[in-house]
Amino acid sequence: MNKLWGGRFEQGMDQKVEAFNASIDVDQALFTQDIEGSIAHVKMLKKQAIIPSTDADSIINGLLELKEEHANQPLTFSKSYEDIHLNIEMLLHEKIGEVAGKMHTGRSRNDQVATDMHLYTNQKVQQLIKAIQAFQSTIVQVAKSNIDVIIPGYTHLQRAQPILFSHHLLTYFWMLQRDRDRLADSIKRINISPLGSGALAGTTYPTDQRYTQSLLNFDDVYPNSIDAVSDRDYILETMNNINLIMMHLSRFAEEIILWCSHEFNFVTLSDAYSTGSSIMPQKKNPDMAELIRGKSGTVSGHYIGLLMTLKGLPLAYNKDLQEDKQHFFEALQTCIDSVDIFNGMIETMTLNKTVIEKALNNDFSNATELADYLVTLNIPFRKAHELTGLLVKQCIDKGIYLLDVPLSTYQAIHSEIDETVYEYLKPLNAVNRRQNENGTSTQSVLGQIKKAEALL
Ligand code: ARG
Repeated sequence: MNKLWGGRFEQGMDQKVEAFNASIDVDQALFTQDIEGSIAHVKMLKKQAIIPSTDADSIINGLLELKEEHANQPLTFSKSYEDIHLNIEMLLHEKIGEVAGKMHTGRSRNDQVATDMHLYTNQKVQQLIKAIQAFQSTIVQVAKSNIDVIIPGYTHLQRAQPILFSHHLLTYFWMLQRDRDRLADSIKRINISPLGSGALAGTTYPTDQRYTQSLLNFDDVYPNSIDAVSDRDYILETMNNINLIMMHLSRFAEEIILWCSHEFNFVTLSDAYSTGSSIMPQKKNPDMAELIRGKSGTVSGHYIGLLMTLKGLPLAYNKDLQEDKQHFFEALQTCIDSVDIFNGMIETMTLNKTVIEKALNNDFSNATELADYLVTLNIPFRKAHELTGLLVKQCIDKGIYLLDVPLSTYQAIHSEIDETVYEYLKPLNAVNRRQNENGTSTQSVLGQIKKAEALL
């Protein structure tokens, strides 16, 4: 088979080399973007009278036909045509003949692939932004409908202080909000046109880069043609954003896994989001959460993979850059799927409110409350902390909790302690005393929900 670049070669390519060199298995994902980019390029060639109008029209019609055929029945691509760009050109050649050869006038595969990747990244990042937003809406819904649930808050995975479940859950809303902001901000670096930069130096034809920029809805044109064809920062940046999202999901996943363990039993996942064991009949496993936690590792491997590929590359295009796609495509799709799956898992999960309430009444997460109560009696906080600590120690020895301590024992600590101490120690009161804007009181969390809703 003749290569599109075969002119200066006397010998055919070694078969192993051909297979090693080919990227079609991966970059066929760029089919739509490649057609879009080529149509814009050819429209420009026509407008600038670089190729005759009729030739441009037959190329454009041919490309549109290929697009339609591909939508009905995926086209067959060949490894011997290396990548998606050359495959499309060969298919166009079969369809319209020699004139297909005019499509590549004033263009290189270097600005072509860069254009495809910019279009692809923009479209996928928009899709990811939507998926995150949908997940954030679910989080707000679940937070609203469980506003009355109090859970123990943890530090060091040790019971710390009572908090609203909604307050805890909304933490993930705010992480995802930062993720969404970062993605939205990155669009200004993604949506830039490299088309017209040629192989690296620009082109001798009287092209109109601003015209293709506007046809493809890019916001600007790269100021430097060498940078345009060798820049992959926007891909790495998106992968870094993806890594942060996956890291957030992984932390959330870890909590879900803990919460549905027998030991916690705070939540029950829907059967639709769980799996069983082939040997242990009693098992219901949180596989989705575990997979997402695991995939966050895979995705960060891709990020490092691309970073290492880029490090040390001389300008401008080098074939190493072909490696960007498999890292990027897999990381992107994994992230979009993980956000979707997590969304469904949280939407269908149920809270085991009685278990949670029982847990909260059998711990020392109200110990800070006792110290704060003593402060109201004018005891310095450090002293109050020590007195409470001593009492907690006694309780542990006796196997009781602070609400079980008789008033006489409290009064032995300080004569002014009265019955009100028991109200003070109750989780709901502990929560509702924390009225700062970002705190855990019902009022505060309702305010935070309002803020969250305004962002959706
Ligand atoms: N398949 C190539 C890639 O993804 C397209 C660009 C090829 N350019 C070249 N000069 N060989 O990087």
